[in-house]
Amino acid sequence: MICILPTLNLMEKTPLLLPLWFLLLFASSRASLSANITTDEIALLALKSHITHDPHNLLATSWSTSISVCDWIGVTCGSGHHRVTSLNLSSMDLTGTIPPQLENLSFLGWLDIHHNSFHGSLPTELTNLHRLKYLNFGNNSFTGVIPSTLGNLLKLESLVLYGNDFRGQIPITIGNLSNLEGLYLDYNSFSGHLESGIFDNLSKLQVLSLTGNHISGSIPNSLCKCKELMLLSLSNNFLEGTMPREFGNLTKLQSLYLGYNYLEGDIPSAIESLTSLIFIDLSYNKLAGTISYSFIYTFFLFSTRIKFNCVVT
Ligand SMILES: *[C@@H]1O[C@H](CO)[C@@H](O)[C@H](O)[C@H]1NC(C)=O
Ligand SMILES: *[C@@H]1O[C@H](CO)[C@@H](O)[C@H](O)[C@H]1NC(C)=O
Ligand SMILES: *[C@@H]1O[C@H](CO)[C@@H](O)[C@H](O)[C@H]1NC(C)=O
Ligand SMILES: *[C@@H]1O[C@H](CO)[C@@H](O)[C@H](O)[C@H]1NC(C)=O
Ligand SMILES: *[C@@H]1O[C@H](CO)[C@@H](O)[C@H](O)[C@H]1NC(C)=O
Ligand SMILES: *[C@@H]1O[C@H](CO)[C@@H](O)[C@H](O)[C@H]1NC(C)=O
Ligand SMILES: *[C@@H]1O[C@H](CO)[C@@H](O)[C@H](O)[C@H]1NC(C)=O
Repeated sequence: MICILPTLNLMEKTPLLLPLWFLLLFASSRASLSANITTDEIALLALKSHITHDPHNLLATSWSTSISVCDWIGVTCGSGHHRVTSLNLSSMDLTGTIPPQLENLSFLGWLDIHHNSFHGSLPTELTNLHRLKYLNFGNNSFTGVIPSTLGNLLKLESLVLYGNDFRGQIPITIGNLSNLEGLYLDYNSFSGHLESGIFDNLSKLQVLSLTGNHISGSIPNSLCKCKELMLLSLSNNFLEGTMPREFGNLTKLQSLYLGYNYLEGDIPSAIESLTSLIFIDLSYNKLAGTISYSFIYTFFLFSTRIKFNCVVT
C-alpha cells in the first residue's frame, strides 16, 4: 500500500512518467531474477570463442562446462553471491578480441588482460560494468577510441591502457571518474588537446601518465587540483604553452616528466618548494629559468636556455 500511494500521485500529476517508471521496474526485476552464475558462464564462453590463439591451452583445458566457472583459470567469484568478481588473464599469450557479451559479468570489479595480444576495440558495452574498480588492457594491440561512456564507471580506481594503439581525444567524461587513483594512457596514439576542466574532479589521482602520445595544446590549470599526484608523466607529446603557475600545489609530487614537448616560458619557482620531488625531467622544451635543488637526485634540464644550480647536501 505504501508503495502504491506515491505511484498514484505520480500518475495524477505527470501521467507520462508512469510507463517509464513501470519499464524501469520491469527491467531491473527481470535482470535481478534471471542473472546468475550461468549468465557469467555464457559471457565467459563468448570470450573464449573470441580467443583465436591460446598457445598454452589454458582456456582450452580449464574453461570447460564440466568444471565449475568459479574454478576456471583466471576467474574469481564472490564468496557470498557466487558471481564472477574478478577476471585475470594477464600474461597468457592470448590473441583475440573482447566481445560485448562481457557486459553481462555484472559483478565484475577487476578486469586484467594486460600483456597479451588482444586487438580490436574496447566495446562500449563494457562501460556497463558499473562495479568495475580496476581495468587493465595494457600492452596489447587495441585500437579505436575510448568510448565517452567510460565516464559511467564511477567506481573506477585504476584505468590502465598503456602500450596499445588507442586513438582520438581523451574524452572529457574521464573527468567524472572521481575515484580514479591511477590513469595510465602512455604509449598510444591519443591526439587532440586536454580539455580544460578534465582534472577538476580527479582529486584522488596519484599517477597520471600520458607519455608517448600525440597530445597537443597546453597543460590545463585544473591539473593543479590533483593534489595527491605523486607521478606526473607527460613526456613525448606536442604540448605547448607554459607550465601552470600553480604547479606548486602538487606538494606530493615525486616524479615529474615533461621532456620532449614544446613548453616555453619560465619554470615556476614554486617547483622549488616541492620537497617530495626526486625525479624531474624538463629536457627538450623551450623552458627557461633558474632552479636550485638540494633534494633532487636525478634531473635532466637539457634545454639550452636553462640555467640551474644544484646544491647536493
Ligand atoms: C540461472 O537462472 C536460470 C533461469 O533464469 C535457471 O534456468 C538456471 O538453472 C540458473 N542457474 C543456476 C546455476 O542457478
Ligand atoms: C594475475 O595472473 C597473473 C598470471 O597468472 C599472476 O601472476 C598475478 O599475480 C595475478 N594477479 C592477481 C591480482 O591475482
Ligand atoms: C546479456 O544478457 C542478456 C540476457 O541474457 C542478453 O539478452 C544480452 O544479449 C546479453 N548481452 C550481450 C551483449 O550479449
Ligand atoms: C608486452 O607483452 C608481450 C607479450 O604479449 C611481452 O613479450 C612484452 O615483453 C611486453 N612488453 C612490455 C613492455 O611489458
Ligand atoms: C559526466 O561528465 C559530463 C561532461 O563533463 C557531464 O555533462 C555529466 O553530467 C557528468 N556525469 C556525471 C554522472 O557526473
Ligand atoms: C565535475 O563535477 C561536477 C559536479 O558534480 C560536474 O558538474 C562536472 O561536469 C564534473 N566535471 C567533469 C569534467 O566531469
Ligand atoms: C592551488 O592552491 C591554492 C591554495 O590552496 C588554491 O587557492 C588554488 O585554487 C589551487 N589551484 C588549483 C588550480 O587548484
